Amino acid sequence: MDIRIEGLTKTFSSKENTETIAVNNLTVTIPGGHLVGLLGPSGCGKSTTLFLLAGLHEPTSGRIYFGDEDVTDLPPEKRGIGLVFQNYALYPHMTVYDNIAFPLRNSKSFREAHKDSRERKEAIDMIVQRTAKIVAIEELLKRKPSQLSGGQQQRVAIARAIAKQPKVLLLDEPLSNLDARLRIQTREEIRRIQQATGITTVFVTHDQEEAMSITDEIIVMKDGIVQQVAHPQETYIHPANTFVAQFLGNPPINMIDASIRDGWVMINSDRAIEADLPDGQYKVGVRPESFILSDEGFSALVSYKATIGRDFQVRFDMNGHYSEALIESDQQIEEGDSVRFRLRKSGVHIFDNDGRRIEKW
Ligand SMILES: Nc1ncnc2c1ncn2[C@@H]1O[C@H](COP(=O)(O)OP(=O)(O)O)[C@@H](O)[C@H]1O
Ligand SMILES: [Mg+2]
Repeated sequence: MDIRIEGLTKTFSSKENTETIAVNNLTVTIPGGHLVGLLGPSGCGKSTTLFLLAGLHEPTSGRIYFGDEDVTDLPPEKRGIGLVFQNYALYPHMTVYDNIAFPLRNSKSFREAHKDSRERKEAIDMIVQRTAKIVAIEELLKRKPSQLSGGQQQRVAIARAIAKQPKVLLLDEPLSNLDARLRIQTREEIRRIQQATGITTVFVTHDQEEAMSITDEIIVMKDGIVQQVAHPQETYIHPANTFVAQFLGNPPINMIDASIRDGWVMINSDRAIEADLPDGQYKVGVRPESFILSDEGFSALVSYKATIGRDFQVRFDMNGHYSEALIESDQQIEEGDSVRFRLRKSGVHIFDNDGRRIEKW
């Protein structure tokens, strides 16, 4: 079931009469059965978008469709959604079993579908057991939340969210409270659970690596406005603008002001790479892994070198800014060296003065 969002806007006004446009005219379709990442820096409107999808906020304007159904005016409980937040929000006094069963026991439609209390108990038991199996917590059903690790608690929260077989699963920074290793484990777990259930899922995160690693598609947001909707790899290889280019990638892309003269990008007064564009000033982004030591190209003075894993991290001056390159550690390069670099075209992006990526150059 696709989620269709059309012209969705949410404005908050404060006491001082200042207005925040948290979500600004968002139009996007989230394909059914996909795991879609909503990615952007803190404050860009991710949670607000999720709350609008959930029905916890009322939009200022715009419509939301789940499949063919316009759900814009439906209350949360009528939308068929499962919600998971950063803080697991489990009921501390209940066992894991009861935490998962709770929404079912409280559901009017579930009670109507299973009128006989004994039969209802059996139905709930079947769902709890099955859900626990999907999220791999069968052994933990008798425990209280306080007896679980953060990762386990988050899996219980997911189990609780999917027990009612929602049409849509909404996850708001579900991994933020976990330590680094658990975060990676749990995100893979979320991917597995999503694929096992096929539930259309929106996964909010500010962490580009998290979004890149498990999603089918990424929606990149900034200041309430969508910047790019694309396959994760695509946002890295073909960033739509300077913001996306700088937000994705670690270490980050080097963004410099450079001129193009006679069909060449000029760096440190040398010809760096050919570009068939009119003479003028451009923003040129160079991924750290795209510098190639060479006899030609532009000259640079190496000011810093460190070994990180397989690569050297090398810093040097590029048009008055310090830039960073990752150079394979079988290369000869030392601090203080005067070197020349060529650039690998696939890692070079040229942007116009509005910051939009130029396709052909
Ligand atoms: N309930 C609210 N009242 C007023 N302003 C809000 C409210 N919720 C969010 N905002 C503002 O809307 C913007 C987007 O917030 P949010 O959606 O929480 O961002 P994110 O989840 O991407 O960090 C921020 O400027 C935030 O301060
Ligand atoms: Mg948020």
